[in-house]
Amino acid sequence: METIRTVPWMKEKAREARREQQIIGFVPTMGALHAGHLALVERAKKECSTVYASIFLNPAQFGPNEDLSKYPRPLAADLEKLTNARVDGLFLPSVEEIYPSGFSTYVHVEGLSEGLEGRSRPGHFRGVATVVLKLFEILQPHYAYFGRKDAQQVRIIQKMVHDLNMDAELVVCPTVREADGLALSSRNTYLGAEERKAATVLYRALQAAGEELAAGVRDSLELQRTMMRILGSEPRARVDYAKVVDAETFEPVVKVAKRCYAVMAVRVGMARLIDNMLIRPEAEGLVVEL
Ligand code: PAJ
Repeated sequence: METIRTVPWMKEKAREARREQQIIGFVPTMGALHAGHLALVERAKKECSTVYASIFLNPAQFGPNEDLSKYPRPLAADLEKLTNARVDGLFLPSVEEIYPSGFSTYVHVEGLSEGLEGRSRPGHFRGVATVVLKLFEILQPHYAYFGRKDAQQVRIIQKMVHDLNMDAELVVCPTVREADGLALSSRNTYLGAEERKAATVLYRALQAAGEELAAGVRDSLELQRTMMRILGSEPRARVDYAKVVDAETFEPVVKVAKRCYAVMAVRVGMARLIDNMLIRPEAEGLVVEL
């Protein structure tokens, strides 16, 4: 696997791949790779002839009191994982390469960026949208692979791609979980042994909401109360939010009638964990996807 560190060289490689009629798949990451990231790579390998990944710990999407300095950076292990996954090229730029001095242009996706994660992490989605736009410009992917674990992020990037007439097509992949339901996350490494056990409460709360939906409950306040009850039963969990929102607008809904997400953010120890459940109406009734 070739590691590419500069913007001009990455652009040249991507241009060359396009000239050769390659179908370019792209998996953007911040490193500390786990099976969730690798599932995206695997899917890209199936669907594309050239697969690029990027590792860039994007300072623009971290607030001043967030975990940028503590975020794990196991680069050697990451390189090995991507090599084993037969990624064709890794874009590994420095911060100066992406944000040279004097950099001053940012993308803000209005509306969608304001609630939930956006409220708890001001400026976060501006940083995400900006870096993803830059990465798409540099790599010119036909397909870009994202995890549904970060459902609001995916929706914001979809909106940006649509609003700005960008060419990349997004492929959204299901959340990869541990055996006990905890969604894989680079931030799970912050959890101590007891906290790790406590962290399953997110999955248990989503499951409880799923059971209520299966029993016919459609009232979102009732679903939210159920999630809060389960989350509240875990003394190590500090809830940031637990809501049912429209899957398009990420605005709260009164009743579950169309595609929705049950979404939550919970602090356990020093980790801030997010998770969600997709709720979609089908001919046979509501289907939930965890
Ligand atoms: P990062 O947190 O490294 O995640 C990279 C991609 O992996 C994202 O699309 C994320 O949704 C996906 N992912 C994370 N955990 C997953 C899991 N358990 N199952 C499936 N997919 C999972 O998200 C970012 O980086 C950044 O915001 C980025 C888009 C790279 C922009 O900086």
